[in-house]
Amino acid sequence: MAKLALLTSGGDAPGMNMALWAATQRAMERGWEVLGVREGFAGLLRGDFLEISPTEMLSYARLGGTFLGTSRDPAFQAKLPQALKALEAAGITHLMVLGGNGSLQGAKVLSQAGIGVVGLPATIDNDVDASEESIGFDTALNFGLLILDQFRDTAEALPRLCALETLGGNTGFLAQAVGQAGGADVLLLPERPLPFEQLLEQTRSAIAHRRFALIVASEGYPDLENTLQALSEQVGLRLRFARPSHAMRGGRPSARDRLLARRLAEAGVEYLAQGYSGAVLVQHGQPERVPFDQLESHKALP
Ligand code: F6P
Repeated sequence: MAKLALLTSGGDAPGMNMALWAATQRAMERGWEVLGVREGFAGLLRGDFLEISPTEMLSYARLGGTFLGTSRDPAFQAKLPQALKALEAAGITHLMVLGGNGSLQGAKVLSQAGIGVVGLPATIDNDVDASEESIGFDTALNFGLLILDQFRDTAEALPRLCALETLGGNTGFLAQAVGQAGGADVLLLPERPLPFEQLLEQTRSAIAHRRFALIVASEGYPDLENTLQALSEQVGLRLRFARPSHAMRGGRPSARDRLLARRLAEAGVEYLAQGYSGAVLVQHGQPERVPFDQLESHKALP
């Protein structure tokens, strides 16, 4: 009988629980057994599996984080024989991995070793190559937008230089989306550093029009805090800096993330049943099969 193991890896993302529920439900409809792997690839190496049921998972589907927990292990590839042994000992025939670029690399290594694995993009960073969207991104975007909107409420009343730092690692997808959706005056994206003079000009122009300026920056922007401090001194406005940090990765998944998680997870189970091993990404708004070896490590900003 087919036995599917579900694994969440790297930074958790809102919607992971929804995907776990949807995959469990769909696999069990097929008569498969389903196990969860505790704490990502670290749990896989320990052979740390638990039985999960759709009834149990449904009560987590509306919550952020991941019921299974995650871990980061950049050295996973070197431990492949141990992982294969653990999968074999538990009689696992199929695996679904949810995570970002690093996690999909882990899935690729297992796939190359002959395991039927699907890798689903789940990261608030939305930086998985060839995928238009990732599970968790929309929830983080809405949270960032709420902060930016509320920054604007108060800055309109009492002018300040307001800067919001988003997560995103060394990528600017989340910051860009928050800033564009919220009408930020300046975007500071790691991929497109601005010369200070240009930053100053954009900020001064915003202040000239409405007395305040709103900046959205990704955490990976070079020398961010010093740059903002220098800017504040130059424009003569007090700097107010919001760093929600990992709070951006939490929260109940948005409706969009829940639907995306469900569609990707269900498609993932179907593709596994057809004998496919590879990534299941979002292309033209649909879950699409993309072989792991076609994934590049770099996704370009729109
Ligand atoms: O999962 C992606 C992410 O949230 C990035 O946005 C962030 O830079 C990173 O993970 C933080 O990682 P950690 O939780 O290991 O500090």
